[in-house]
Amino acid sequence: MKRSPRDLKRYTASERANHWVVAISFVLLALSGLAFFHPAFFPLTQLFGGGPWTRILHPYIGVVMALAFILMVIRFWRLNIMEARDRQWLKEAPQLVTKDHHVMPEQGKYNGGQKLLFWLLVASMLGLTVSGVLMWRAWWNLPIELVRASVVLHAVSAFALLGLILLHVYAAIWTRGTFRAMVYGTVNRAWAKYHHPLWYRKMTGEEK
Ligand code: HEM
Repeated sequence: MKRSPRDLKRYTASERANHWVVAISFVLLALSGLAFFHPAFFPLTQLFGGGPWTRILHPYIGVVMALAFILMVIRFWRLNIMEARDRQWLKEAPQLVTKDHHVMPEQGKYNGGQKLLFWLLVASMLGLTVSGVLMWRAWWNLPIELVRASVVLHAVSAFALLGLILLHVYAAIWTRGTFRAMVYGTVNRAWAKYHHPLWYRKMTGEEK
């Protein structure tokens, strides 16, 4: 990965650390959660010291992910407010596959797809966290009907989040030059000019 002093800063070290705490907790939660979901995945409990330990650890890792995610939302929500050009981007998104990238409206730091994904992440994390807390019977015993409803909401939100993160990771890898933004904190100018021209001009002060 070639780096240059002319690269543009996209994330601070603390933003990146925050993101990776969320991402690592997510992977641990997905592995331990799947182990409870179906017997075929039960062997995954070996990664956490066996069944009882997996059962004990899963909700605490959930608390870490929820708190780190709340911090991330505080940092990023303003940058993900939908504007007219983002709605236009979403409308034209199918053309990304059939036509040239240049037919798409110019984008700021995040494109319409990234912004939509952000709000869907917020919704699924909310469902996951609230239902997780309600069914945490090591700490409180709520009415069984509520616990049962929470179990269903927890599974639905978990699968929604899994799907969204698969999409997020695929886009991060597939859009060449993006992954390094969350590793080194920088992107090269060609990447910025091509994918996020409005952000590029804001960062460099260059005219169109
Ligand atoms: C598991 C592996 C993950 C990888 C490889 C990954 C990769 C990345 C990369 C490369 C970016 C920078 C995108 C850009 O600047 O255009 C990014 C941004 C971001 N990621 Fe992840 N990520 C992962 C997991 C997660 C998880 C689990 C969450 C939350 C549930 C998450 C939430 C975000 C958010 C909110 C941003 C900022 C973009 C925005 O605010 O719209 N990521 N990620």
